[in-house]
Amino acid sequence: HLSTFYDIDTAKENMEKMRSDQHGPVGKLNPTTMSIRTKSGEEVPVSLSASIIRSEGKEIGSVGAFTDLREIFKMRRELEEAHLQLVQSDKIASVGRMAAGVAHEINNPLAGVLIYAELLQENLKDRPEQLADVQEIIKQTLRCKKIVSELLEFSRQSIGKESSFELEKLIDSCLSLVTKQATFQDINIVKEIDPHIPAMVGDMGQLQQVFINLFINASDAMEGFGEIKIKALYRPEKSSVVIGVSDQGPGIPEEMQDKIFDIFYTTKPVGKGTGLGLSISQNIINLHGGSIRFECPPTGGTTFIIELPIESTEGGVEEPLFIGLDE
Ligand SMILES: Nc1ncnc2c1ncn2[C@@H]1O[C@H](COP(=O)(O)OP(=O)(O)O)[C@@H](O)[C@H]1O
Ligand SMILES: [Mg+2]
Repeated sequence: HLSTFYDIDTAKENMEKMRSDQHGPVGKLNPTTMSIRTKSGEEVPVSLSASIIRSEGKEIGSVGAFTDLREIFKMRRELEEAHLQLVQSDKIASVGRMAAGVAHEINNPLAGVLIYAELLQENLKDRPEQLADVQEIIKQTLRCKKIVSELLEFSRQSIGKESSFELEKLIDSCLSLVTKQATFQDINIVKEIDPHIPAMVGDMGQLQQVFINLFINASDAMEGFGEIKIKALYRPEKSSVVIGVSDQGPGIPEEMQDKIFDIFYTTKPVGKGTGLGLSISQNIINLHGGSIRFECPPTGGTTFIIELPIESTEGGVEEPLFIGLDE
């Protein structure tokens, strides 16, 4: 029966509205948003337009049309979300530009600090107490330089030197770099590289940076104990290569998942993480015409998945994003 989903009081109210001239011409109800309840108790937003049927001046009934608004509301929500995302990526881009500008300005004075500290180091050779202080200055300055150069790297908007390379060799070179570190002592590396992968084209230096960051992130997530699995598969039908880097860490909590690629987003202590690794990596992979994403399977751990085209589309010109400053 009508009254099971169309509340009787609301109906009376609507009849009053139709009789008045406040909600459309007398006898009619302009589209009005309300909600009705389905059999299962679900509340459905609808739009109602109605009018009174008269015969010889007497009301003999009414007719109404309900339009289900769920689809429209859904579309509106999606539009709002898309808009939010746009604002967000715009914000990230401008933060990135600002950071790159600051980094560029700080680069030269920092080099000056380093040179003078190194001169002091020479002069203080036989004064061990002061020497230790100067060495600390040098150490901290080098840390700043590293952050600055990472920021400048982040601001680059094209791939640098393109060359042809074998993926497995590239991965091996990254592994030999990271596994020398003490933090990789108890980490087991498993490699499964498809032997049919053809030679690839790209900026080897940039791509090495991507893999090194993924390996260090994996080792950090496992706190130095466990297995890192590297899989690479040739996809001839898509003319691409899919590379997975899996760890046995705790995974990425849901509330963090949409932030980890943000510039400066880190959960690591100061001095250990800069939050630049994944944002730079994403930039580099995009410049190579590829994509990077991650999965946290219910069985635990995290897998980062990179897809790279065999033929890179980007030209090899080097051009910093930050225009207006030379060098
Ligand atoms: N393999 C992983 N497992 C769990 N969390 C990860 C993993 N890789 C990255 N993350 C999270 O993403 C954050 C950002 O990573 P990244 O951009 O490389 O910056 P950083 O390593 O300097 O913190 C990390 O701080 C960490 O919280
Ligand atoms: Mg990192």
